[in-house]
Amino acid sequence: MSTIPFPAALRALTIAALLAAGSATHANEHGPSAVKPWSPVTLQTTLKDLPKGNAGAGQKVHDTMMCASCHGATGNASTMNWPSVAGQRYDYTAKMLLDYRSGLRFEDERAGLMTSIARLMTPQQIADVSAYYASLPKPVAPQAQAALAAPLNAAEHKRVEQLVRKGDANRLITACASCHGLHGEGKGTTPAIAGQTTDYFIRTMRLYHNGERHNDVYKGMSQFSQRLSDADTLLIARYYASFGQSRTAKAD
Ligand code: HEC
Ligand code: HEC
Repeated sequence: MSTIPFPAALRALTIAALLAAGSATHANEHGPSAVKPWSPVTLQTTLKDLPKGNAGAGQKVHDTMMCASCHGATGNASTMNWPSVAGQRYDYTAKMLLDYRSGLRFEDERAGLMTSIARLMTPQQIADVSAYYASLPKPVAPQAQAALAAPLNAAEHKRVEQLVRKGDANRLITACASCHGLHGEGKGTTPAIAGQTTDYFIRTMRLYHNGERHNDVYKGMSQFSQRLSDADTLLIARYYASFGQSRTAKAD
């Protein structure tokens, strides 16, 4: 892969071709057993060994490698089903790109598409684009999601705040906020989830739940997602989506 001249290789590809390449990668090349999972130590060492990221250079990567065509000009995804990347933690973005590249994250053909793209990236480009996303303000859930991101009523709000801030001891669910932060801002390799697109949020929770997304070093997400009902997950997705909107409205 490293022998392909870049960006000539990308210019020659349409998004449709990338999608096709993505599914071929998914189907043929790797599976969970083919890739050595991270340990907390190898993950931290690898992240530390990345070259220093530069947000300005990362913006160029975002534009020239067509990231913008799917993740939006300013990191706000153009469809409900795809993740926004604005305001994401440096360590988390870098980990995801490394995971796609190695095949550790390969839950479906969309992940396969990202694998094809990440394999065209140099470590410097991974560091730069991660620094760029970390420099952007939190995303706003797309307008098309208005129905899903509708304001929670008082009872829903109470229920979801209890769950995300306190967890549920009976169901062994740890408070989401204890790792993702009180405002969904994330930390290190724990992603920011405020303002994330609801369809993607729900889809990725389901993939953790089904054991199809298994690149979580600490394996916490598959456990928590299995203990949540579908109704809980939907409420939580709406809660974090609306959180992103209110932050943006306050322009912080
Ligand atoms: C053709 C559309 C498309 C292009 C182009 C694209 N992405 Fe993606 N990206 C996706 C989709 C779809 C997903 C979700 C994949 C999944 O579910 O695993 C994704 C996931 C990601 C994630 C993980 C987000 C998260 O919250 O876990 C990162 C980081 C990312 N892309 C960065 C990039 C970068 C950097 C580029 C350019 C070098 C890029 N993407 C180009 C569609 C695209
Ligand atoms: C013990 C810490 C911890 C707790 C508690 C936790 N998470 Fe996570 N979560 C993580 C980590 C770490 C990741 C990244 C895993 C990876 O590398 O794929 C993650 C990933 C996610 C993602 C994927 C984000 C993306 O952009 O793809 C979502 C959504 C999420 N968590 C929601 C939740 C919800 C909802 C709760 C509460 C029910 C919760 N988490 C509780 C640590 C935690």
